[in-house]
Amino acid sequence: MSKKIIIGITGSIAAFKSIQLISDLVKQGYQIEVMMSESATRFVTPVCIQSLIKRKVYVDTFDDENPAIITHVDIVKDADLFMVVPASAHTIAKLAYGMADNMLTSAFLAATCPKLIAPAMNVHMYENPITQKNIQTLKETGVVFVEPISGLLACGDTGNGKLADEETLLEMIDYMLAPKTLIGKKILISAGPTQESIDPVRYITNHSSGKMGYALAKAAFQSGAQVTLVSGPTHLKKPHGVNIIDVINANDMYHQIIQRVHDYHYIIMSAAVGDYAVQNIAEEKIKKKEDTLLLEFHKNKDILLEIGKRRSSAQVICGFAMETSNLIENAQTKLKKKNCDMIVANHLKVEGAGFQGDTNVVSILTTDAVQNYDIMSKQDLAHVILNQMKELEERKC
Ligand SMILES: Cc1cc2nc3c(=O)[nH]c(=O)nc-3n(C[C@H](O)[C@H](O)[C@H](O)COP(=O)(O)O)c2cc1C
Repeated sequence: MSKKIIIGITGSIAAFKSIQLISDLVKQGYQIEVMMSESATRFVTPVCIQSLIKRKVYVDTFDDENPAIITHVDIVKDADLFMVVPASAHTIAKLAYGMADNMLTSAFLAATCPKLIAPAMNVHMYENPITQKNIQTLKETGVVFVEPISGLLACGDTGNGKLADEETLLEMIDYMLAPKTLIGKKILISAGPTQESIDPVRYITNHSSGKMGYALAKAAFQSGAQVTLVSGPTHLKKPHGVNIIDVINANDMYHQIIQRVHDYHYIIMSAAVGDYAVQNIAEEKIKKKEDTLLLEFHKNKDILLEIGKRRSSAQVICGFAMETSNLIENAQTKLKKKNCDMIVANHLKVEGAGFQGDTNVVSILTTDAVQNYDIMSKQDLAHVILNQMKELEERKC
């Protein structure tokens, strides 16, 4: 059954942004019900919204068509999420004080499902201690806020108050709806490639996009874990709710990870760390003079091997292996040598697997089993990996 999301729209200049969000949520298969404040109808029309959701849009609490049903109480009973987007300062104030003077505020008060508020307003309205106090009051009752972003506001002021972007809103909706299976767990993840400098303008790297590690961080956050992501250089948007540590080369990554080994329940090393670094990085740009250029490399420290030496038996450690031949044999050797609990082996030569795409084809090796998986999205695979780690941890107890 599709999840039911109630969306409240209020009288903010950002109300038009709720139209695209609603359209995208409908396309994703959610059941959407919409409530608008009177002021919101001055910015976008109920007709526009109702043609997207193919249902009545609620504005007036007393506009109950069926006398057997009191809509503001009934409609929220089976809701999975109540979201106010954009939320005006005025509606936030009313919600903080439990006022119920229109369909939106009455239904919000009657709802017992998780609640999400995305404020949008002028910077001074947002930063006003009264608004901040109202936000704090709502947070204390368990309401989750998607913080507004800073930028040029419609009123001409610059500052904090812009509605969070849609990608963040969708990430937060996923977070609110996901089962919280990893609450209390601390998870350390590495992602992306590393870059090893040759001279001030050149470096050696690999084709890793970081997508798998970022998908893992997102999935772990959605499942309620506290997540730290040590990321090599990528072009990906930083996942919401995750502590990010940016690094450039393998040595930086080594130090950032090794100092944290004992602080995490699960450690997942999905970064494609360079095996070698240039021995003597040139201080000046290397000129094009000779026909050939020889570079000398030294071996980088092996992060996974070092984690395997320092780990406690209660921790769950997962490594990644990417090979072009003898994948399973090599992954089995890696599992033992690095003292891991699990290796996710990438079938690089199989269609749909590997670095840049949004899908992967993997085998997951543990000390007593090899499980082969069909092609799936990196996001789905991230949940599979985390579930397997949880199972391994439970078996240890
Ligand atoms: C052009 C215009 C833009 C506005 N934009 C915002 C806004 O972004 N955020 C906000 O809190 N109020 C904004 N307001 C003020 C609200 O519409 C006003 O406080 C209203 O009473 C909110 O009612 P509601 O919370 O019931 O929707 C704006 C008003 C106007 C005329």
